[in-house]
Amino acid sequence: MIVARGLVKRFGSFTAVDGIDVEVRPGEAFGFLGPNGAGKSSTMRMIGCVSPPSGGTLRILGMDPRREGPAIRARLGVCPQLDNLDQELTVRENLTTYARFFGISRAVARARALELLEFVQLGERADSKVEPLSGGMKRRLTIARALVNEPDLVLLDEPTTGLDPQARHLVWERLFRLKQQGVTLVLTTHYMDEAEQLCDRLVVMDGGRIAAEGSPRALIERYSTREVVELRFQAESQEEYAGKLTGVAERIEVLPDRILLYVTDGDGALAEVHRRALAPASSLVRRSSLEDVFLHLTGRTLVD
Ligand SMILES: Nc1ncnc2c1ncn2[C@@H]1O[C@H](COP(=O)(O)OP(=O)(O)OP(=O)(O)O)[C@@H](O)[C@H]1O
Ligand SMILES: [Mg+2]
Repeated sequence: MIVARGLVKRFGSFTAVDGIDVEVRPGEAFGFLGPNGAGKSSTMRMIGCVSPPSGGTLRILGMDPRREGPAIRARLGVCPQLDNLDQELTVRENLTTYARFFGISRAVARARALELLEFVQLGERADSKVEPLSGGMKRRLTIARALVNEPDLVLLDEPTTGLDPQARHLVWERLFRLKQQGVTLVLTTHYMDEAEQLCDRLVVMDGGRIAAEGSPRALIERYSTREVVELRFQAESQEEYAGKLTGVAERIEVLPDRILLYVTDGDGALAEVHRRALAPASSLVRRSSLEDVFLHLTGRTLVD
């Protein structure tokens, strides 16, 4: 669906996307995971054929975005990072008007709008204006709008940023259904749980480059341990305790507010901490997550 080789995006002398290789296969959900400024949106805009690449090669649906932008866009659904719904129009009209850009007949557009509003659970708000909708509803409407042309490939730039947990789960559930229908999804996120839940494969992006690529499970296996022990010590600095933990873990990360022990057996490691008479104010044993992968790869935590 997408093949990028050495893809570059520059803004003047600044390089936002620094030679990335990406391949997205039909029917998969593919994610770009990374912090603010990683280059996720810049990449999505190149894939969406609204921003020309500065270098490298890019093929979308077998076509060249430089020459075949309109033909590609006809088969894409795009949900941009910021909702750009028409506030003057009703919920339904946002879909039917958008459908006209694709040359879809009025009758088909009306039928499809009804169906899509049901799909995103906005059927009852069809005749409401956009402005009073909640953030989650607006997001769902933007997603519905992206589906008006029955796209083969849907691009979602941070589909759930800023939504409360309930609203996020509703969006995830809808995206999961789309995937089940065979639609290829490409999404960006800085939510680890979103990437883990939705993505078959993902790339971890940082500073315009790809730091790692694989399925969530493969990334966790490769870059982290099975379990993590989180320790918080009542102290000015966690650092002074780190020295006393030598040998307890395969790897130790010292963060400003806690120490992370990367281990196979969390309970065993915690017992050893207690044996050394170190008394953390709190402790937690958990499974490794993509957060740990990110920390390992970049040395930084990925805060929302
Ligand atoms: N039109 C532009 N002109 C100049 N610099 C830009 C432009 N668009 C993006 N950038 C810069 O490129 C870098 C990558 O931006 P981009 O929006 O792709 O990041 P992102 O990963 O989507 O971040 P976020 O999570 O904040 O959305 C940033 O440093 C940004 O300031
Ligand atoms: Mg962005």
